[in-house]
Parts: sequence; structure tokens; C-alpha cells
Amino acid sequence: MEITVYGCGPDEAVLFREMSPRFGVTPTLTTAAPSAANIELASRSRCISVGHKNRIANSTLLALGRAGVAYISTRSVGCDHIDVEYAKSIGICVENVAYSPDGVADYTLMLMLMAVRSAKSVIRRADVHDYRLEDARGRELRDLTIGVIGTGRIGTAVMDRLRGFGCRILACDNGRSTAAHHVPLDELLHLSDIVTLHTPLNADTHHLLDRRRIEQMKRGAFVINTGRGSLIDTGALVSALESGKLAGAALDVLEGEEGIFYADFRNRRIESKALLRLQELPNAVISPHTAYYTDRALGDMVENSLANCRNFESRKRHG
Ligand code: COI
Repeated sequence: MEITVYGCGPDEAVLFREMSPRFGVTPTLTTAAPSAANIELASRSRCISVGHKNRIANSTLLALGRAGVAYISTRSVGCDHIDVEYAKSIGICVENVAYSPDGVADYTLMLMLMAVRSAKSVIRRADVHDYRLEDARGRELRDLTIGVIGTGRIGTAVMDRLRGFGCRILACDNGRSTAAHHVPLDELLHLSDIVTLHTPLNADTHHLLDRRRIEQMKRGAFVINTGRGSLIDTGALVSALESGKLAGAALDVLEGEEGIFYADFRNRRIESKALLRLQELPNAVISPHTAYYTDRALGDMVENSLANCRNFESRKRHG
């Protein structure tokens, strides 16, 4: 069985080489994103694996389908970089991979703690040898109400951790009624000191936190996002941070991050005004979509990509 692995980083390549014999799979590894120009790489594979860093155009899906690709496994939980319905309509099945939610949950807690302890401005000042406490007085999680939006595997892992901190937890999720802590979104926004986003991005959740909803939040609240950038109207968030409506934000994902995050921009001009402004602000922590990136999650991701392809082939064989 052949599988073409697109957008394969060196760290993933090591794992694909190591694990593929166990699955009886021969991988073709390429750092390139799938495109009409390199379709020949997939000519021997019914299954391909893609990364999450590049949006896959419908024209590329069509070219892949014509080259015989019937199955795409994305090395991510989110599938928002692929038009899954379109793929289905041309006979390509798209699936995501499960990986340990713990890395993202740990990271979310770290961002919450950084936000409520003003870590960015404290460290910025310490870096220039200004060790005064100034505005460094923080808040303790046990005194706060945390609103978790999205209670899938990651949101649930975040809540599990929060219980250990003794804070009050509120949760909401479209479609799922998490027995404990569940409240309507409006109430969650109104009552929470920290709002953390763990819901998938789709047409219903695009700009879930827009100007109106940010206005509903407590004055001095914090926003944490390790989900998808477009869950937040970034312009509205920047205004709320500038006006003091929100006390801080910690964002591992950002609208328009594609093509910027994961690249070296030290000597290149960044066009995203929002990113530049957020990085300037002392109360906005930005990291480049890093939360998932742990040894364990990367191993799970590669292993489950291989398992997905093997399972697809065996489903096909057995009708
Ligand atoms: C996802 O799994 O959807 C993520 O956001 C992590 C991805 C960058 C691998």
C-alpha cells in the first residue's frame, strides 16, 4: 500500500519512516503542499496525508481525484483547510486524525496563567533589566470563573485541569449538553473572567466572538484561543484590548496566520496589521500555532495517519 505524505516536515518524516513498515505502508514523503503542479507524486497512491498548514483548493482536490486519490487524511483535528463536502461530491473521503488532547490542554492552561499574571509585560521588563513590579499584581485562578466554549476532547481536557485549580467552570457547546457546568453562550460570556475557545471553525462559529459578543463580556476579562483564529473578529478584539474592555488575550492562532506562522519573517515584511498591533500590545500573548506540538501528539498524528489509510483500504477491500 502506497501513501503520499504532503507537507511533511523533517520531524514527521523521521516518524513516518520509522512507523510505516508496521502498517505495511510505503510512504512517499514531500515537503510540498499538494497542488495541480505536483499531482504526479500521488499517482500511485489512493490515500494521501496532508498537513494543516496549506489550504487545499477545490481545483487541487479535483486534480487529485482525477489522479486516482480516493482518501485524504489530514494531520490535524480541524478540517477547515479542506472543503470536505466538495471532496465528498467528487468521491474523495476526508478524515482527520485523533491525537492526545493533553498537549493543547496543558498549553491552554499555560496561556491562561500567563494572561492573568501579565507574563508578557513582566518578562518584557525583566529582559531590559527593569525588575519593578509595576502592574504585575495578578489574579489567582481559584478566584475566577472560566468559560469553556467547545467541550470536545480538548475542551474536556481543559476542564479536567481547571478542576485542580479550584475555579468556577462554565461551559457551552452547540449540540452537546455537557451535564456539568453547561450554560447558554450569552450567560457564559456575561459571567466569565476568562473565555477559552475550543470549538471547530465552521460557518456557524466564524467570528463567534464578534464585537457584540465581546461587548457582552465582563470588563477586564481575558480571551484565550488555541482553536482557530477566525473564531474571533480580530479587529474587534484589538479595539477591546486597546480600550481596556478586555484585560488581555493569549492567542495561539490568529486570523490570517496562514503563510506567516511557521515561517521565518525576521527579514521579511509582515502585512498583517492585526498581528503587528497584537505583538506590540503588552497584554496580548501571541504564539505561532504551537499548542499541539509535543512529542506525544506528533507521534499520535503520524501513527493515526497511517492507521487511517490502512483502515480506509481495508474498508474498501471488505466492501
Ligand atoms: C489541529 O489539530 O486542528 C490543530 O490545530 C493542530 C494542527 C496545527 C496540527
